[in-house]
Amino acid sequence: MPGEPLTPRDTFPPGFLWGTGTAAYQIEGAGDLDGRGESIWDRFCATPGKVRNGENGAVACDFYHRYREDIALMRKLGTTAFRLSVAWPRVLPEGRGRVNQAGLDFYDRVIDELLANDIQPLVTLYHWDLPVALEDAGGWPERSTVDAFCEYAEVVGRRLGDRVGLWLTQNEPWVVSWLGYGYGVHAPGRTSATDAIAAAHHVLLSHGLATDILRRESPDSRVGVTLDLEMAYPASDDPEDVAACREFDGERNRWFLDPLLRGAYPVDVLERLAPNAPPVRDGDMKAIAAPIDFLGVNYYQRRVVGRGADGGWRFEHRDGSVYTDMGWEVSPNGLFDLMRRLRDEYSPPAIVVTENGAAFADAQGHDGCVRDPERRDYIAAHVDALGRAIAAGVPVVGYFAWSLLDNFEWAHGYARRFGFVYVDYPTLERIPKSSFYWYRDHIARVTSGALADPRRPT
Ligand code: FCB
Repeated sequence: MPGEPLTPRDTFPPGFLWGTGTAAYQIEGAGDLDGRGESIWDRFCATPGKVRNGENGAVACDFYHRYREDIALMRKLGTTAFRLSVAWPRVLPEGRGRVNQAGLDFYDRVIDELLANDIQPLVTLYHWDLPVALEDAGGWPERSTVDAFCEYAEVVGRRLGDRVGLWLTQNEPWVVSWLGYGYGVHAPGRTSATDAIAAAHHVLLSHGLATDILRRESPDSRVGVTLDLEMAYPASDDPEDVAACREFDGERNRWFLDPLLRGAYPVDVLERLAPNAPPVRDGDMKAIAAPIDFLGVNYYQRRVVGRGADGGWRFEHRDGSVYTDMGWEVSPNGLFDLMRRLRDEYSPPAIVVTENGAAFADAQGHDGCVRDPERRDYIAAHVDALGRAIAAGVPVVGYFAWSLLDNFEWAHGYARRFGFVYVDYPTLERIPKSSFYWYRDHIARVTSGALADPRRPT
């Protein structure tokens, strides 16, 4: 049957984390409740033409009020961990200074509810919702935002650090810097390569400094950072295609991996980006390379890259490949290759796949069920690839599918559904899709060898 995992059930080590992932702005709603300040995403969504249909996260999935119901769903699913992010503007509405206790109280309740259900929280500090006050003071291209982030990390670590065992400082520095400040398709919508390069440096630096802060405030925890990595393959063995692919890989992957795990920016990319250069000060590179406990990896697609007619990069679409609703090429083998590459070239102490998933145009059938065999096949094939990587000796310790719920997909608004659980936005009703039952049975199979419920819908 398509979608059945091929890896033997003992491939995944005991204690392997099976989870789902989410982010505050995408699910919480409660945009102006309990003293939450404004974030750059609130402002971006309110700017005409930026987000599909002018949609926003003001209500989203209303996780803010429905988190108990959603944690009950996680329990049904059998996941042992849950990835969520803290909204900086809930905690420090002006970005720094005044702490909003009501905002912290919310995360306190969520963490307690997770732990009461034997689900380990993996908490991301920054999943893109910068307080507007900090953007108005220059945003990530300004070094002062790093100081503000350290303040924020300390406040959150101090309050939740006794119960959170797994932390991520930053989510996807490439997206924060290039989509937000370089290409302008994400908040705050700036379009300057100089800003993007400075933003990336400060995001990396903030990660390194916050790592030390979290270790102090949350001494029994493990700390990591998440990169979005795309395994890149040359379109042909023509030296021009090979060179184009290396350039792409340099800007997309090595620019972030090298500082974090080797303490230096890659020289070939520095040369390519000149005269732009990251604003490095003495001690920065050492701080960025602070030892981590695990590397978080978000993986969705591979890239086939050649030299374009204009001298830039050309991304090839391949006949016979499957593309998701995001236009992303499905390639489980890309995940396998990426895992081996990380081990061979960077030797992180451990790897957690912090996001992996697919958007498809799900719809409720006349019988009320949502059948999503494409998502089931996608997840099954990637979990299988991960199993092969583990069998090949890559130290992968967790897998978080994106996402528990359909949610606000940034500039795409609500038009891209990634969830195991369908959300009927007008009523906010949650309807587990058929992939939900597949994931539940998979987890049950690899953790206990028993199917949870043989009567599952297919
Ligand atoms: C990642 C983001 C996540 C979600 C997925 C589809 O880049 O981290 O919030 O939007 O893509």
